[in-house]
Amino acid sequence: MAIDRFGRNIHYLRISLTDHCNLRCIYCMPEDQVFRPNAELMQDEEILLFVRLFASLGFDKIRLTGGEPTVRAHVVDLVRGIAQTEGIRTVTMTTNSVLLSKLARPLAEAGLKRVNVSLDTLNPLKFKRLTRWGKLEDVWAGILAAEEAGLTPIKLNAVVVRGYNEDDVVDLARLTLDHAWQVRFIEMMPFAGITDLQTTHVVTAEEIKERIEDSLGDLEIAHGGELDGEARVYRLPNAKGEIGFISSVTQPFCASCTRARLTADGRLRLCLLREKEVDLLTPLRAGASLDELRTLILDGIWNKPWGHGLADGVIPLNRVMNQIGG
Ligand code: 5AD
Ligand code: SF4
Repeated sequence: MAIDRFGRNIHYLRISLTDHCNLRCIYCMPEDQVFRPNAELMQDEEILLFVRLFASLGFDKIRLTGGEPTVRAHVVDLVRGIAQTEGIRTVTMTTNSVLLSKLARPLAEAGLKRVNVSLDTLNPLKFKRLTRWGKLEDVWAGILAAEEAGLTPIKLNAVVVRGYNEDDVVDLARLTLDHAWQVRFIEMMPFAGITDLQTTHVVTAEEIKERIEDSLGDLEIAHGGELDGEARVYRLPNAKGEIGFISSVTQPFCASCTRARLTADGRLRLCLLREKEVDLLTPLRAGASLDELRTLILDGIWNKPWGHGLADGVIPLNRVMNQIGG
C-alpha cells in the first residue's frame, strides 16, 4: 500500500497519455504551445508496465488524462490493457469529447467505465472563444455518444473564467434538470505560461453558486454533504442530475487527497499544484529493476506535499496544465 507521511492512502493514479491536444483552451495553454516529441513520451508498453507496478502497490483506480487522451494512437488498446491489469478496478477518462462520437463505443467495450467531459458553455461562439479551436456541436455529439455507450454517470467539467463564461453557469446548471449528469464548476487554477489570466479572472465557487441560486432557486445538499471526489455536490429541486463545485483555490480538499499523477513524459507528480516530481521513465529506460522503481514510487508518495500553496502565492511554474493532465 502506498501511504504518505500524513497517513493518506494514495491509490488513485491519473495518467496523462499525451500533452498534445486538438483544442487550445485559454485557461490551459498558450495558442502556440509546443508539444513534446513522441519519443519523450511513455510508449504503450512503458505505460502498461507502470500500471502493473502501481497496481502491485495497491493502486486500483486509474484516470486517463492529457492534453487530450483520445488523440493518442492506440488509445483503445491501451484502455483495454489497463482495464485488464490485475488489481485495477476502474478506468475512467477526462476528455474534451471532440472525438467521442467515434470512440465512445470502442472505449466502453475496451473497459472504460466513465468519462468526464470538459464543457464550459452552451453558447457556440463563446465555446469557440474559450477553446480557440473547438466546435460545440462535436462536443455535444460526443457527450450523447458517451451516454449511449454507457460511459455513465457522465460528469461535465466547466472552468469558469471572468469575462468569458460566468453568465453561462446558469444554462449549464439547468442541464441537470433533464439529464442525469453531474455538472461541476471548477475554480480556475494558476500555472506557468498563462498565470496572468488565471489569477485575475478567477470566479469563486461561492459566486457561481449564488448566480445559479439567483436564477434557479436554492440548491439542496446531495450525498449527505460528503465530498464526491473533490466536488461538493448539490441538486436543484426535482432535478435528474447534480451540480458540483470544485473549489481548489478557495477551499482546498488536500486532506482527503488519494491521488498521484503520472505525466506523459513519465514523471510521478505528487501534487497537481506543486513542482515536486520523481522521474520514473529515465530510470526505467536505464534498466532499473522493478523493485528499484517500486522504491522510487513509495519514497515519492511518502514525501507527497501536504497541499498546495496558492493561498501564499506559490504557483507551480515548471509545467502548464496540458503537461500535467489536470
Ligand atoms: N484551472 C482549472 N482547471 C483546468 N483545466 C484545464 N486548465 C485548468 C485550469 N487552469 C481542466 C479542464 C479539464 C481538465 C483536463 O482540466 O477543464 O476538465
Ligand atoms: Fe485541451 Fe483540455 Fe487543455 Fe482544453 S483544457 S486545451 S481540451 S487539454
